[in-house]
Amino acid sequence: MAAGKGTRMKSRLPKVLQRLAGRPLLGHVLSTAARLQARSAVVVTGHCAEQVEAAMSQAHGDGGMALRFVRQEPQLGTGHAVQQAVPALAGDGTVVVLSGDVPLTRADTLQALVDAAGGEHLALLTVRLPDPTGYGRIVRGPDGTVRRIVEQKDASEAELGIQEIYSGIMAVPAARLAGWLARLTNDNAQSEYYLTDVVAMAVADGVPVVAHRIDDAVQVAGVNSPLQLAELERAHQGAHARALMEQGVRLADPARLDLRDDARGRAAELVCAQDVDIDVGCIFSGRVEIGEGTRIGAYCSIANATIAAGAVIHPYTHIDGEKAGVSVGEGALVGPFARLRPGAQLGREVHIGNFVEVKNSQLADGAKANHLAYLGDATVGERVNYGAGSITANYDGVNKHRTVIEADVQIGSNCVLVAPVTIGAGGTVGGGSTITKNTEPGVLSVSRGRQVSITSWKRPVKLPKP
Ligand code: UD1
Ligand code: CA
Repeated sequence: MAAGKGTRMKSRLPKVLQRLAGRPLLGHVLSTAARLQARSAVVVTGHCAEQVEAAMSQAHGDGGMALRFVRQEPQLGTGHAVQQAVPALAGDGTVVVLSGDVPLTRADTLQALVDAAGGEHLALLTVRLPDPTGYGRIVRGPDGTVRRIVEQKDASEAELGIQEIYSGIMAVPAARLAGWLARLTNDNAQSEYYLTDVVAMAVADGVPVVAHRIDDAVQVAGVNSPLQLAELERAHQGAHARALMEQGVRLADPARLDLRDDARGRAAELVCAQDVDIDVGCIFSGRVEIGEGTRIGAYCSIANATIAAGAVIHPYTHIDGEKAGVSVGEGALVGPFARLRPGAQLGREVHIGNFVEVKNSQLADGAKANHLAYLGDATVGERVNYGAGSITANYDGVNKHRTVIEADVQIGSNCVLVAPVTIGAGGTVGGGSTITKNTEPGVLSVSRGRQVSITSWKRPVKLPKP
């Protein structure tokens, strides 16, 4: 069910497309459903239907699970929502009803719920809450069996005291569902068609109703407001942090680590070898692999990168490999305030210092660019020293061209290397030079105005006021 508006988010973006760990809420629900090996998933859309459908077909269209959309217009309640899905469902098997705004249910929990339904029972996912306000309550008979669900707004004083609540998630035998839904009425406090009314119908029809109660409230928590979204985000990230620490990763503060899907939907995956230290405030997106003994400084943002053993990434470094990836070699030093863009490949012991940007360039072992520089579309040889303020002019306004800097070259400060150009091995480029032609190995190349000293020159003197 993903048709609701989510008024309390106070956002133009539909609630089910709000992001948790970089992934839309509904995307979490569909990823979990896919792990149940469902035959198909039917998404009920309504509010901003086109936007929701487009986002989900893009993200989940190529998964193993067939994805279908049905529209619910207007939105007359959860029972009415599921009714719209009935024509799209097979008549046999088990239907699991999920809410697009409950993102953190685990697949094994849903599997247990499906098992509890056993193909012929109605199984409800429930949890006991110290404060059950707002939720539907599980009403049991004197013998302890589930009789019905009563919504907050329809509950009596005594029923409001019930702490066991309905999560909004149920597993229903498909063969029974259509018949029950057809009998729903909207004769209640909200004049809505409540899906929860099928519970009393099952009891009346002699279909056993089982409550599968779990202890972990996070798995059934829904998102209604920015505050709840942030709370669930922290719960989710906290679980990642604990899992990493159990593997031996040292986090300076488990409350200040974030793993996210990347901007193009690649799933969050942080793989760490032994003795990795991660300081506070780091964000890892997409797939990031970190080698043994590597240190990541505070406030780094790292996406789609491989960082080899013994490297040190100093604070405030921004690494984003996007499609092409970024690789950092063994023992390399990067940052603070460095930026590695797609296709940056750093060899062993490479040094990239503050305010240095590297894009689509290979730096061989021991190459250094320590300050304020740009290397784009460049091939840089071993032990090259690339001076402060130097840049590769790789773009002529239409095409990109390569710069080749052979081994052991020294590029002075403030040089412009106008690509395509090759600097021969062991050569030196004098500071302030603009290099447009290839240079021979071992030579000093300088291209700038000669220094002159004018002895007759006099400083201007301040004129008297008229
Ligand atoms: C529902 C349950 C309640 C349960 C709670 C758990 C009913 C009647 N009540 O209440 O027992 O404790 O979830 O969170 O089912 N939706 C539609 N179309 C509609 C109405 C809702 O698609 O016409 C979708 C919403 O977008 C949302 C989900 O269904 O994803 C739940 O709807 P919501 O209005 O939040 O139900 P609750 O009142 O929270
Ligand atoms: Ca809700």
